Amino acid sequence: MKEKARILSGMRPTGPLHLGNLLGALENWVKMQDEYDCFFFIADWHALTSDYENTGPISGYIKDMMIDWLSVGLTPEKSTLFIQSRIKEHAELFLILSMITPVPWLERNPTYKDQIVQLSNKDLSTYGFLGYPVLQAADIIMYKASGVPVGVDQVPHVEITREIARRFNNLYGEVFPEPDAILTPTPKILGTDRRKMSKSYDNAIFLSDSSEDISAQVAGMITDPQRKRRSDPGNPDVCNVFDFHRIYTEQKKVVEIDSQCRTAEIGCVECKKIMAQNLIKALAPIRKKRAYYEERPDLVNSIIQDGVNRARKVARHTMEEVRAAMKI
Ligand code: TRP
Ligand code: SF4
Repeated sequence: MKEKARILSGMRPTGPLHLGNLLGALENWVKMQDEYDCFFFIADWHALTSDYENTGPISGYIKDMMIDWLSVGLTPEKSTLFIQSRIKEHAELFLILSMITPVPWLERNPTYKDQIVQLSNKDLSTYGFLGYPVLQAADIIMYKASGVPVGVDQVPHVEITREIARRFNNLYGEVFPEPDAILTPTPKILGTDRRKMSKSYDNAIFLSDSSEDISAQVAGMITDPQRKRRSDPGNPDVCNVFDFHRIYTEQKKVVEIDSQCRTAEIGCVECKKIMAQNLIKALAPIRKKRAYYEERPDLVNSIIQDGVNRARKVARHTMEEVRAAMKI
């Protein structure tokens, strides 16, 4: 049997996962489990780069994230699931790579410049924040991943990773393959206010939400902004609720709602109720699995421990190669 190609990706534990994360990343990861040798990890050291002033919630977010992952169908039977900070080799490789990474590569990183402006409420003028992509490079090449499934915002980081790997190989000999970004299509839904779904915008539907939470969030969703009165015809093509219908409602009903909206036969309140019911139904298996894992913290811990052990074995081996190549 041909060996599966290895892919790796990570997420920062900055809060509960929402539908945007599910449609934009996790569903893709779940599918990839059958095709690839997958390494998925929780990038808690990366969370520190911007949240170093408020570290209290991180450990809870880590547990929640692993439960979210398991609930949507990531499984230790197929993938290596672990936590970055439990593998100290990441820190060692990060240090070594930082010796060979020119600072201008980091300063011209578009995400770096972007984030400093966007998160102006935080002091991001730290050495660690500048070095964010170096740590990410260490995460990726440690496991010699050939592909990195990420959103478009992370592509510059994979590009820097390639450059760092190339530089290492030129200096010390061929140790690392250059990984490719595997672009995840952006999710076809927005947050309830039509901005990008994000915890910080308070417009998200979380995987851990109860049926009541979901109904309330959907009831508050912005629809076709031109449709002011019940008697006004609507345009599903510009309606966020309709985008959700496309994903969660059966095709026949979607066609029906499309025409009923255009003739004002159906009102937004009713239309949202139908969508909320379908969404709640679609998320029910996830909620059920979440409850299962929440009741079994020891099981979750042992899954993490098992993943850490597997990842550590690979990381140790890589670091031996690194030290040998560098003669240190
Ligand atoms: N920077 C990524 C993000 O914010 C998280 C991350 C850290 C990552 N290390 C990684 C993603 C390695 C892919 C591979 O989404
Ligand atoms: Fe959107 Fe439905 Fe209202 Fe039409 S009826 S505008 S699809 S919420």
